[in-house]
Amino acid sequence: MIKTEFLSAEEDGNITYAANLIKAGQLVAFPTETVYGLGADALNEDATLGIFYAKGRPADNPLIVHVADMERAREIAFFNKRAELLAEQFWPGPMTLVLPRKSIVPDIVTAGLDTVAVRMPNHPVALELIRRSGCVVAAPSANSSGRPSPTEAKHVWKDLVGKVACILDGGSADIGVESTVIDLSQDRSCILRPGGLAVECIREVLGKITVCNEANSNKPVRSPGMKYRHYAPEALVWVVEGETEQVREKILQLALKLINENRKPIVLTIGNNQVYEGIEIISLGTNEVEAASRIFSALREADERGTDVIIVEGLSDYGLGLAVMNRVRKAAVKVLNV
Ligand code: TXA
Ligand code: MG
Repeated sequence: MIKTEFLSAEEDGNITYAANLIKAGQLVAFPTETVYGLGADALNEDATLGIFYAKGRPADNPLIVHVADMERAREIAFFNKRAELLAEQFWPGPMTLVLPRKSIVPDIVTAGLDTVAVRMPNHPVALELIRRSGCVVAAPSANSSGRPSPTEAKHVWKDLVGKVACILDGGSADIGVESTVIDLSQDRSCILRPGGLAVECIREVLGKITVCNEANSNKPVRSPGMKYRHYAPEALVWVVEGETEQVREKILQLALKLINENRKPIVLTIGNNQVYEGIEIISLGTNEVEAASRIFSALREADERGTDVIIVEGLSDYGLGLAVMNRVRKAAVKVLNV
């Protein structure tokens, strides 16, 4: 156990203090526009090893390296034409590019792959922290491995207190789902993880691009992180997908049956939720953008309320809906299509 400091990012001195911790090889959790990250100096092997240890993360799951400017990005990766175009358009922002790596990046960061994942986050605290540390910063989401990603500093505290030197509190993460990971290291570009930047936006720049589903196939895995069960709260997660009316009818049936069995279900709903009278609900808002910003905290809140089954209304794969459904399906033990 180490002492974990919980500091407000609003006090400028705290960002400098945290930057010095990173420079000294310590772990610092910090806000980004997607989710909170757990940062360490990416070129310091011992420091990055600490990330895997603190999260309980499998060593074959590589880390994203965060930068505050293109100059540093070019020090760690080779940028091709597609990468230049996307970086120009969407950085800083919720997009991670997988590119051929340069040799200064330690093997532990890339899990031995010949590529490295790079991102320039769009959050003033993250950018200042990276700049003042003088480092390129390896940072996975700041949750214990397998748990829902943290969108608030208190989520990080719950998972990582005693394991990291410092948590910088910068309020709620805006987007709420992690960055979109795009593999540009091969001739055919492909989306390894849908995320905070909608696929539709990427298509406008690159034209055709496929969303890989390698996590569910028996081909070699290009994004190692996608093969693990993820984002899971303690309660069981069920998701029901289909036309809204049928979905709600089915959920109502399931929830009433569970209540009859003296169990405690909770329904995560989108839009008008009056149909669920008498059943405990958490609203994910009225559209897919709001659902993205609320999904992870809703999963954690359901646990806090002592729920044993979380039933989620499926939403369409349009826009950020794709990222939300990717996370929910990975957390789920049961996916029903009605
Ligand atoms: O929004 C985000 O991306 C957040 C914030 C903190 O920036 N970070 C984040 O990191 O979500 P993490 O470690 O939870 O997820 C990184 C994902 C994993 O699925 C990992 O397998 C994949 O990126 N990845 C990292 N390096 C890779 C590489 N060289 N090739 C393929 N996939 C890679
Ligand atoms: Mg993660």
